[in-house]
Amino acid sequence: MMKVVLANLLALLFMCTCACVFYVLTRLESRLERHRLGFPTPGGEPDHPGPLDLPPKTFRALLAVPVAQKLLFGNVVDVHNLSGPSEQFDTFRDSRLSVSNRGKSRGDPLMLSELVEDGVFWSEQLEAQLPVGFTEEHTRDWRERTRGRPIVSLEPGCGRISNRLATFTDGTKACVRYGINADQVQGETLTYYLATLLGIPNLPPLTLSQLNLESEQWAAVKGSVASLQWGGKAIVSLTEWVANLTGVVTPAPLRQEGRGLHPLREELENKTLGELLELVQWSDLILFDYLTANFDRLVSNLFSLQWDSRVMERDTSNLHKTPGGDLVFIDNEAGLVHGYRVLHMWEKYHSALMGSVCVFRKRTAQRVIELHRLKDARTRLLQLYRESEPLAPELGFLSDEHAGILQNRIDRLYKHILHCKGKYSQL
Ligand SMILES: Nc1ncnc2c1ncn2[C@@H]1O[C@H](COP(=O)(O)OP(=O)(O)O)[C@@H](O)[C@H]1O
Ligand SMILES: [Mg+2]
Repeated sequence: MMKVVLANLLALLFMCTCACVFYVLTRLESRLERHRLGFPTPGGEPDHPGPLDLPPKTFRALLAVPVAQKLLFGNVVDVHNLSGPSEQFDTFRDSRLSVSNRGKSRGDPLMLSELVEDGVFWSEQLEAQLPVGFTEEHTRDWRERTRGRPIVSLEPGCGRISNRLATFTDGTKACVRYGINADQVQGETLTYYLATLLGIPNLPPLTLSQLNLESEQWAAVKGSVASLQWGGKAIVSLTEWVANLTGVVTPAPLRQEGRGLHPLREELENKTLGELLELVQWSDLILFDYLTANFDRLVSNLFSLQWDSRVMERDTSNLHKTPGGDLVFIDNEAGLVHGYRVLHMWEKYHSALMGSVCVFRKRTAQRVIELHRLKDARTRLLQLYRESEPLAPELGFLSDEHAGILQNRIDRLYKHILHCKGKYSQL
């Protein structure tokens, strides 16, 4: 009898030991896997939380979203009273006017309290000194000068062979992009309208045109179109050609070895005003490329680091700067459509980059919160696109699957903003 009990006890002990060893190995493997993928391991890198590594407190707060929004964003973001894009833009412009005169001169050092408000938002004072970007009024005017207007020449000057620099009768210039497939023109176009919806003013104005060699718009460049072998009645995108653009090197904090961008004294107070104003625009760029899964800017550079260690020291792809300091986000055709198709290849880089930024433009955060709360990214984007672009029905819109991915990315970005707010507001 004793022997049987002893044997059973030994068997039990053996099983327990096996279970423990198995558990430890599994944990170790999952940590190694996360490390290999470049994700922060839970509790491993507190300064660079991944979007999904939220503390339990934040998760609880998320369960009661409307209340949490009110509590955490308080008077900063009135999610219940957001007006349409145009009204918001005007409000923003007005506030710029009222505070821009009391901005410091470019030589004065700025204190963290002057740079950041409400924990994680760039201050009004800093916002007031930002270049305005492409305003609504400018966009309306440019469209008026190009939509349906005759093109007098098509020349090189906008990158690859399938892009042409078009000149209109009044001298206005546009980059015409002929997509090898419909995804590219759709990606470029819908990415542009998403930027408009978010109030990100760094993308040059865009319109669409349908090729028709008999039309007034294309008749004068019939020969060029034929020699380019642009097919039939393809829809092409036209974006404003901007003079005097220069290249932009990714700022050190946003390179792979960098610390990311956080509302911390040691990260921000040593920067010049010029550098800060650029960082403000970079914070929008990172969120925007995350939402659209555009790998063809910073993310592809991070990927290239594997075999080209100096890639970050060179200009960032598809990003330029005007002499006035505006960042210009061009060539967005990888966004939304193609970017979502190949998400499995790039997602670890997208998430890591987004998770490394914890300071935001108020307006962008406000729009993300609203799109999260109302879960209506698809409807709002479609509405804006249809209202603004007569060729929307011909070009088509996001598939249901891709619209779902967009909403999901908005929700994840929202959680990340909430996480940063929770982390830095008490400091
Ligand atoms: N809107 C624009 N305004 C001024 N230059 C432009 C514009 N778009 C493209 N370019 C010029 O063409 C180059 C390639 O543009 P891009 O759109 O990235 O083409 P590609 O499809 O070849 O990558 C840019 O680096 C820039 O010099
Ligand atoms: Mg390009």
